[in-house]
Amino acid sequence: MVAGWISDGIGKSIRALARHPGARRLLERLAQEIDEAVEDRTGTGSTRSLYQMRLSRPPTKVVEPLATMPYRPGVDDAALLGVLQAAFAWHPEEQWDQSRLQAESAAAGFQPSDVLLARSEGQVVGCCWTKVHTGGEAPRGEIVIAGVRPEHAGKGFGTRMVAAGLDHLWDQGMDWVYLYVESSNLRAVRAYLRLGFSVYRTEHRFGEPPLVIP
Ligand SMILES: CC(C)(COP(=O)(O)OP(=O)(O)OC[C@H]1O[C@@H](n2cnc3c(N)ncnc32)[C@H](O)[C@@H]1OP(=O)(O)O)[C@@H](O)C(=O)NCCC(=O)NCCS
Repeated sequence: MVAGWISDGIGKSIRALARHPGARRLLERLAQEIDEAVEDRTGTGSTRSLYQMRLSRPPTKVVEPLATMPYRPGVDDAALLGVLQAAFAWHPEEQWDQSRLQAESAAAGFQPSDVLLARSEGQVVGCCWTKVHTGGEAPRGEIVIAGVRPEHAGKGFGTRMVAAGLDHLWDQGMDWVYLYVESSNLRAVRAYLRLGFSVYRTEHRFGEPPLVIP
């Protein structure tokens, strides 16, 4: 309870300070110091980190978006789960089964049309799960998940599929789009950089080693 009041108070003070450019520089410096101090204390050397990457409405297309189809609940479940299970077999927090799919589909604001499926030779080979956030600030979109079947990875599908996801979000009037990606996920980071995203923030998971991406 007391810890809650203290952290609420600190949060409010930080938000107030962040409105002033001079104080903001100081906060950035402080955040860096905290990162380094915590890292020093764990002594792990390298740590798991996530990038939050952002992209504002781009002026030009950098790749031709892939033709995609919207997910049809009940019809495409096995195909979608097949992609997610194969693409994220290595990821501890992205283990998918029918009950997770049902739970995510029942979440507030979920629209099946926000989940884009990419096909090749009749088979679903990838999915780009997008989300629209309209509450609060400017309307912003999210690339929640992008996954390509491993046997089709590295052939340009992912980049073009996410380009289709971005178009889907721009068409709904989003001002900017964000996503989270493991910093060690070179293929994904490169795809996002190519599409114009840049790293906005790095979030560290101290005490956890970086995920090894196959
Ligand atoms: C991330 C993912 C969607 C990218 O799709 P993809 O079709 O494999 O990627 P692309 O072929 O479009 O290539 C993307 C970039 O990675 C590069 N790349 C391809 N294979 C690579 C490899 N083995 N190692 C490093 N980079 C690689 C490509 O050259 C390209 O970079 P460039 O544009 O600078 O040349 C896909 O690999 C995937 O599903 N991975 C597992 C799930 C995942 O990590 N999802 C992202 C987090 S939500």
